[in-house]
Amino acid sequence: DLPPRVRIHEVGARDGLQNEKTVVPTEVKAEFVHRLAAAGLTTIEATSFVHPKWVPQLADAEQLFPQLEDIKGVALPVLVPNERGLDRAVALGARRIAVFGSATETFARRNLNRTVDESLAMFEPVVARAKDDKVHVRGYLSMCFGDPWEGPVPVHQVVRVAKALMDLGCDELSLGDTIGVATPGHVQALLAQLNEEGVPTSAIGVHFHDTYGQALANTLAALQHGVTTVDASAGGLGGCPYAKSATGNLATEDLVWMLHGLGVETGVDLGLLTATSVWMAERLGRPSPSRTVRALSHK
Ligand code: HMG
Ligand code: MG
Repeated sequence: DLPPRVRIHEVGARDGLQNEKTVVPTEVKAEFVHRLAAAGLTTIEATSFVHPKWVPQLADAEQLFPQLEDIKGVALPVLVPNERGLDRAVALGARRIAVFGSATETFARRNLNRTVDESLAMFEPVVARAKDDKVHVRGYLSMCFGDPWEGPVPVHQVVRVAKALMDLGCDELSLGDTIGVATPGHVQALLAQLNEEGVPTSAIGVHFHDTYGQALANTLAALQHGVTTVDASAGGLGGCPYAKSATGNLATEDLVWMLHGLGVETGVDLGLLTATSVWMAERLGRPSPSRTVRALSHK
């Protein structure tokens, strides 16, 4: 059985643009987010309050976030790695944040300059303060299936960090296949083990990258398990600095095509969304890698 409705967590403006070579002007980002909202997306990850040297593409978070104030009825989560990031986000009125941990030591070191446990310690006061202010907290977990340096990642290793993030008080958990190596059986095995260890499916979202063309198959496997939150990026924006051949996230258009075909509601207008991705592709000077965008925009 499939869920009647899926909530798409749109990450194009954050995961997509953070990995594009072109640094997109703030005004273009603001228009992008407005257009995504107009296309019916209700959760749009806007930017990151991380160190600007680590992610120069999103160094304009202070300028961008206030330009989104007029968007009503749409959740605009932002990434926050530490208390400094939380201070910056809260000062601008952010009501939803995401911390981002790693299932592997190598990626924790490269992405956060910390061990896995040091990263969790860094998140602890962030989540506690957010909860005190009734700010919603997502906990991302990267490298849930494979890691470019460490290879396949054992399920028990992922479950340990996932539980630690939930124990900190995260409201939801997003399982990241950062380099796109997962396959459907692995997805279902991880979900089953998480349930076994007390993490309910209702708290879990899935975050697939499409490097090996498995993102839709993995998503379907997760839906069959009962997952109803799926991350995707408009037009399949993005890539990964740690895996040279890696593509971006699952394209939102490809996801919406599959879900609507299955009779699963998303609230998204596929025509408006495709037009937005075509428009953004022009700004980036390269065509969208999404098969659905290409098919629907082919004249
Ligand atoms: P660090 O160098 O260890 O930082 O970096 P630190 O705590 O030692 O502080 C050093 C200086 O940075 C200090 O300044 C801080 O104030 C400043 P100083 O006192 O020396 O002048 N600083 C900051 N400035 C602005 N904003 C901040 C901030 N924090 C410290 N938030 C740090 C540690 C976590 C900051 C760094 O590693 C970082 O910013 N990492 C972010 C990396 C990132 O954004 N990666 C991409 C997102 S994760 C992802 O894409 C995966 C995902 O999509 C899921 C999946 O696919 O798997 C979510
Ligand atoms: Mg990602």
